Amino acid sequence: MPPPCPRTSYRRSTKCRRRIVKTPVSVIGTGRMGSALARAFIKNGHPTTVWNRTPHKAEPLAALGATVAESVDRAISASGIVVVNVSDYDASAALLHRAAGTLRGKLIVELTSGTPQGARGAAEWAKAQGADYLDGAILATPNLIGSAQGVILVSGPLAAFTAHKDTLLSLGNVRHVGEDPGTASTLDSAALSQMWGGLFGTLHAIALCEAEKVDLAALAQQWTETAPVIEGLISDLIARTKAKRFAGDEQTLSSISAHHGALQHLIEITQMRNLDRGLVDAYDTVFRRAVAAGHLEDDFAAMTRFMEKSA
Ligand SMILES: NC(=O)c1ccc[n+]([C@@H]2O[C@H](COP(=O)([O-])OP(=O)(O)OC[C@H]3O[C@@H](n4cnc5c(N)ncnc54)[C@H](OP(=O)(O)O)[C@@H]3O)[C@@H](O)[C@H]2O)c1
Repeated sequence: MPPPCPRTSYRRSTKCRRRIVKTPVSVIGTGRMGSALARAFIKNGHPTTVWNRTPHKAEPLAALGATVAESVDRAISASGIVVVNVSDYDASAALLHRAAGTLRGKLIVELTSGTPQGARGAAEWAKAQGADYLDGAILATPNLIGSAQGVILVSGPLAAFTAHKDTLLSLGNVRHVGEDPGTASTLDSAALSQMWGGLFGTLHAIALCEAEKVDLAALAQQWTETAPVIEGLISDLIARTKAKRFAGDEQTLSSISAHHGALQHLIEITQMRNLDRGLVDAYDTVFRRAVAAGHLEDDFAAMTRFMEKSA
């Protein structure tokens, strides 16, 4: 039995002169991210058609081998897979609705950022046009697209993902996270919440250090040392919440009481140094709900029960 032919777009072996045609792909929107997506498809040998509202932004992709379509309709008609990456869902919907007649039988991969509700609405609309729809969230910057760090979550029908997985993997570490089209953007928003929790906490920490004339090099070193501790607390919080283990027990790392007591020091120094209290007051509001409901000695994970305004 001959060895398998190499996975290039043209098989070089004399026994394998047959040309391999990779799945054609169209990319609507060639801003910073859309261009990176198109480059990854081109690099992997996919015939790639691109369209952008401002045509000159697509020209560098033409130099790499992409076909620049004159209209969204033509871009969609060129391929079975249509990746959309524009600023927001409103812009995407306006483009796709105008080209609705071309969508039957296509797979739309919406990689524009948005909300779970927006994703579900777009999925319903696509279904009514006779198109498959996957909604994605890109958890990476353009320079990481096409690499293992190019994490992209997609949700929607698993069958549509499985059928086109090889093509989508050109974009990087693309994972299917659920049948509900809103799952990817829910996880995207969750990642943003975790990221900004850390970044805004660090803004507050920098302000405290500067007000107290503490060298930021010390803060940097302390962060390196405490990051694994915080990571452990976050992993424990998620695991305990999933298991609904809210009561304080022998595995509890810290109770609500311990956290709430420490927060009072942070509030005091924030007040004394005339720093913005918005962040620490927001933490205190959630603590007070849990304390008022009698959960002072529970595991910190019990705080997850008090994130709703009405709790
Ligand atoms: N950049 C990142 O690191 C990153 C990471 C994760 C997710 N994302 C998401 O990727 C999407 C694109 O981000 P980006 O960084 O590539 O932004 P960008 O460089 O500003 O590109 C925006 C793109 O949207 C197009 N666009 C905007 N409004 C439009 C409209 N009304 N009709 C048609 N096209 C329109 C722009 O076309 P023109 O060129 O004509 O203006 C351009 O192609 C966003 O949803 C963003 O949240 C980006």
